[in-house]
Amino acid sequence: MAKLWGGRFEAATDKDAFEFNASIGFDKRLIEEDIEGSLAHAKMLVRTGIISAEDGDLIINGLNDIFKDLKDGKIAIGDEYEDVHSFVESVLTERIGDAGKRLHTGRSRNDQVALDMKLYTRKAVSKLDQSLRVLQEALFNLMKDNLDTFMPGFTHLQKAQSVTVAHHLGAYFEMFIRDRERLNGVEERISYCPLGAGALAGTTYPLDREWVAEELGFKCGPTRNSMDSVSDRDYLIELLGALAIIMMHLSRFSEEIILWNSNDYGFVELSDRYSTGSSIMPQKKNPDIAELVRGKTGRVYGALMGLLTVFKGIPLAYDKDMQEDKEGVFDAVDTCLSSVKLFAGMLSTMRFNNEVMEKSARAGFTNATDAADYLVKKGVPFRDAHGIIGRLVLYCISEGKALDDLSLDEWHRESPVFEDDIYEAISLKTCVEKRVTMGAPGRASMEKCLGYYAEYLGINK
Ligand code: ARG
Repeated sequence: MAKLWGGRFEAATDKDAFEFNASIGFDKRLIEEDIEGSLAHAKMLVRTGIISAEDGDLIINGLNDIFKDLKDGKIAIGDEYEDVHSFVESVLTERIGDAGKRLHTGRSRNDQVALDMKLYTRKAVSKLDQSLRVLQEALFNLMKDNLDTFMPGFTHLQKAQSVTVAHHLGAYFEMFIRDRERLNGVEERISYCPLGAGALAGTTYPLDREWVAEELGFKCGPTRNSMDSVSDRDYLIELLGALAIIMMHLSRFSEEIILWNSNDYGFVELSDRYSTGSSIMPQKKNPDIAELVRGKTGRVYGALMGLLTVFKGIPLAYDKDMQEDKEGVFDAVDTCLSSVKLFAGMLSTMRFNNEVMEKSARAGFTNATDAADYLVKKGVPFRDAHGIIGRLVLYCISEGKALDDLSLDEWHRESPVFEDDIYEAISLKTCVEKRVTMGAPGRASMEKCLGYYAEYLGINK
């Protein structure tokens, strides 16, 4: 067991205790960040004269070689080390001797791991943001092609008023705008560098924390309080919060796609490439990807609840409980990233059954509000108009008709105000096209929206 400590110990660590305590099994994922941080630290130690230039060169070349050898598969990170930090220092020291032992001067694993997690978060945020952008592009293209594709809009999962596919998808486009903003907010708040905070109380070495912060791309400079620096994992909780909301959005979308793709709805058909079959029922083609995204949302929520709970009672500054931040965060980032990526592919290969959706939009009295509005425009108070149309709907149900099928005589059963222009006023086309206030599904307002989205994505419409 290669350890970074041991001087004050008389007995070796119990084997099970070592394994229980070790984080190497999962923090080996931080190897790149760990080496990046160590390189900056070593360069700073040389600049400030804390270590010699010769030792600095040995360390920097040694670290670069370790990284290269790992990449080339010449060495592997074994489980005999306590954590990724121990691995790097041990291998470095094996290779370059005493200089390797000087790398940790003025540093603790507490500020080191805080830095690693911030560097990891920064990369994760950028990958997630990019994948959401790709998903938005897929949505944008679908919206452009479906400005006039009618479908029913629902409230309470009951047909409510008609919309278009572009309008419905636009709701998700908006959610993903907010998701990206939330991710960028996380990135804003990790722009302070914790390295140099030491174990908890800084150090007496004349570290140049400003230089390290700049070297590592932390635009706000070093963190201001060393105790907070090593004990802060707010950004991971925020990240998980942002991921949980992304997954919630994908899960709602999945739920809709599963419904739309079901035999009885038939609004869409998922591509074979994103569906799976049954081992017993030959006819089945199941929306497993959407179901899995919906299901995996639970894992991400779990990671968020887990970390909030880990942190609720730990005293300042660093406590080993904090090591529990990693697995949940790594898993949630992986889960969210693969869900977003798959979603873009699933959406852009999905076929919309336009006729089925339009037929569904025509049924279910989605134009009842428009019929009431027709009366209002002719001077009838809205509440009375609501009652009149309600009674006509009841009549239609008993006759098995749509409002559009009523004869003028039938309209007149409830009010003499109806004239020939009622048919035009409640046609599906009118109901959608006349809704052109900002945010509504009519073509005119949707085109404005698409113009905005094109600008947002930085693409030509
Ligand atoms: N594996 C630890 C973690 O993930 C690294 C920091 C260890 N610090 C310590 N003082 N034991 O949090």
